[in-house]
Amino acid sequence: MLARFALSALAIAGAGTAQKTVYQAEDAALNGVKVGTSVTGYTGTGYIEGFDESADTITFTVNSSTSQLYDLELTYNGPYGDKYTNVVLNNAGGSQVSLPATTAWTTVPAGQVLLNAGSNTIQIQNNWGWYLIDSISLSPASQRGPHKITTTPVNKNANADARALLKYLGSIYGKAILSGQQDQASFDWVVQNIGKTPAILGLDLMDYTVSRTSRGAVSKDVDHAISFAKKGGIVTFCWHWGAPTGLYDTADQPWYRGFYTDATDFDVAAALGNTTNANYTLLMNDIDAIALQLKRLKDAGVPVLWRPLHEAEGKWFWWGAKGAEPAKKLWGIVYERLTVKHGLNNLIWIWNSVDPSWYPGDATVDVVSADTYSQGDHGPISATYNNLLSLTNDTKIIAATEIGSVMEPAQLQAYQADWVYFCVWSGDFISGGQWNSLDLLKRVYSDPYVLTLDEIQGWKKTGKKKSLRFRG
Ligand SMILES: *[C@@H]1O[C@H](CO)[C@@H](O)[C@H](O)[C@H]1NC(C)=O
Ligand SMILES: *[C@@H]1O[C@H](CO)[C@@H](O)[C@H](O)[C@H]1NC(C)=O
Ligand SMILES: *[C@@H]1O[C@H](CO)[C@@H](O)[C@H](O)[C@H]1NC(C)=O
Ligand SMILES: *[C@@H]1O[C@H](CO)[C@@H](O)[C@H](O)[C@H]1NC(C)=O
Repeated sequence: MLARFALSALAIAGAGTAQKTVYQAEDAALNGVKVGTSVTGYTGTGYIEGFDESADTITFTVNSSTSQLYDLELTYNGPYGDKYTNVVLNNAGGSQVSLPATTAWTTVPAGQVLLNAGSNTIQIQNNWGWYLIDSISLSPASQRGPHKITTTPVNKNANADARALLKYLGSIYGKAILSGQQDQASFDWVVQNIGKTPAILGLDLMDYTVSRTSRGAVSKDVDHAISFAKKGGIVTFCWHWGAPTGLYDTADQPWYRGFYTDATDFDVAAALGNTTNANYTLLMNDIDAIALQLKRLKDAGVPVLWRPLHEAEGKWFWWGAKGAEPAKKLWGIVYERLTVKHGLNNLIWIWNSVDPSWYPGDATVDVVSADTYSQGDHGPISATYNNLLSLTNDTKIIAATEIGSVMEPAQLQAYQADWVYFCVWSGDFISGGQWNSLDLLKRVYSDPYVLTLDEIQGWKKTGKKKSLRFRG
């Protein structure tokens, strides 16, 4: 609440002073990187290159007369392909910033920074490396207006459970964040070691896929979902969809990696090119197999935060490997087949890429989301959040569907990074101690801004009410 108050104070103080200050990278403190001048078009006297080691950094020192939120922009050149950088404020928190491939000097939004009064540092950390940095700039942020989100599902036939779920998410959006944990075993670890029960259980339809069941895979994830829903929890499913055919199935690329682009020669563009093609039929069979599982959930009264074709824009899964068009086309087919042919009206459709050229459109998407992994960075991921806000012009709820390190609740609020839920990935991400310390997890899980299972009891009823009031 304190952070919110500070923000409204700053909106007044900042009115009419949206002035931009540019800081040249070559004037900043450099570690492991050097000034270059051979790629023309930079500003100042050069740019910074040589991001090739994980410890490489540029550190800018910037001053602010008051404690104030600023919009940060970054001017870069990306001749070596799509990259990410980390931007870290005052040695804590920060954000991962996408630097798409370009051979022109390009300015991108890099999220927001809440500067202290006095001196602050903004550090550019290597992350993927192999990009050139010209400068950063800061302008006082103007306060964002109220959200314009839609809380009616895109599927006109969505059942009461799905409607209640989306309404409930809308009722807490910007006021709280739901805690979530992927995988039953990791979820149980949270309960035992943190002493709190997440509000959301993340599961996977992976081991119901034909190319895996035919090789002996079995799954209990649907059963886990039904049990958790009985306790009043919310479930989300992704689908590591093993390609139906063309798996290399070698020592390096075993069949169980069959959802990875590098583990199969399955060509999604070719398969979708012709509906009488045998591979098109195999894809439909796979969707039908998954539909049987989703129907079990529907029949048990379990609405699902459903996130198929995840991380498509990363291209590391075969459904994204041939670019945006086949991925969007497959999304449309999956949507149509599950909702119309199979009548699965218990699904809330979550799209999981940020790039506008990959977006399948408002008509088939309920929630937009991103997966971000930045080890030890407990910042609000505000650059990605703001990109998702502009992706739909703030008309869809936004979720952090996979994360490695949890976000600091105070930073989420200070930056207005209104992720409706987070879901930490399984195994070492939650329990290994490197991505999240136990102390931090306990503190985050106890924060009033973070909702746990006990605090969302009755959400279905809340979601079914005509007018909603959040009591938090
Ligand atoms: C920034 O503030 C520090 C002390 O807080 C001061 O030493 C320095 O001169 C200031 N720099 C600029 C550019 O104002
Ligand atoms: C189906 O996909 C497999 C694996 O990539 C490929 O070898 C085969 O030629 C494809 N079949 C058709 C009819 O395109
Ligand atoms: C579609 O695939 C079928 C079966 O492989 C083939 O007979 C037909 O010629 C293909 N049509 C086109 C337009 O490629
Ligand atoms: C975004 O929303 C604003 C305000 O609701 C509206 O004026 C604007 O036209 C919208 N932009 C797009 C691209 O839809």
